[in-house]
Amino acid sequence: MPRSSRRLPLPSPELRQASLAGCPGGVLEIAASADGVSERVAALLLRALESGAPVGLATGRTMQPVYAALRRQLEDWSDPRRQLLLAGWCSFNLDEYVGLGEADPGSFAAEMAAALAEPLGLVPGRLRLPNGRAPDPEAEARRYGAAVAAAGGIGLQLLGLGSNGHVGFNEPPCLRQAPCRCLTLSAATRQQNAAAFGADPAAVPERAITLGTAEILAAREVLLVVTGAAKAEILRCSLQEPPDPAVPASWLQTHPRLRVVVDADAASALRLS
Ligand code: GLP
Repeated sequence: MPRSSRRLPLPSPELRQASLAGCPGGVLEIAASADGVSERVAALLLRALESGAPVGLATGRTMQPVYAALRRQLEDWSDPRRQLLLAGWCSFNLDEYVGLGEADPGSFAAEMAAALAEPLGLVPGRLRLPNGRAPDPEAEARRYGAAVAAAGGIGLQLLGLGSNGHVGFNEPPCLRQAPCRCLTLSAATRQQNAAAFGADPAAVPERAITLGTAEILAAREVLLVVTGAAKAEILRCSLQEPPDPAVPASWLQTHPRLRVVVDADAASALRLS
């Protein structure tokens, strides 16, 4: 799609668009508030889900209000349109902790069940994640990567941003073409995600399965969502410093269709052109 048709129209005067200096494939959308980010991202997700191509979903605090907005927006749809979307739902989550399954409250499977699968009444198997309880996590990573490929790859890939520049659980250092795999989480990430484990970083599982930068960059479009001043500097490094294995999100600069939706706080360190 030509870039101009990706830039317009904007659904709300609360949202403004800017070009990102140093990131030619990127479109930046800045919402006045985190609520504006959630509404915009939810609308983009619904549009992608309606198209029928597999959608890549993410977890984390950034996504909780996005999924709440998605549920709310769906309530305004007509019954037939909503039923059609739910019946055709096809999504693959980015990642899961090794050793955890849906019965574990800290698992991403539990998070997605509570945020989307249960409230929307999705048919089991439509919203997919890596199986954290698989006996052979390496084999499970290979199976999951193959399942994404067999579905035709990801259409729209939703991404949050880790405080150390990770996307999914692609921890630094990370090459541009890392495949879906099982890896060891960094201390910084276990610290970042401790809230879901009684605020104890040691209780966060040591390993995870994640889609790789290979699958993420193969998506037809990437949607990076970042809110809050605490991530302003890592967002700037990710988008406006040369791509580097030390900042896995920096590989997103090489994607031809990158949309970045942020609030004003997260955008505060970016150079706009
Ligand atoms: C987590 C997840 C990522 C998520 C990121 C940001 O570790 N693996 O997929 O996007 O870190 O999380 P949060 O939105 O809670 O800051």
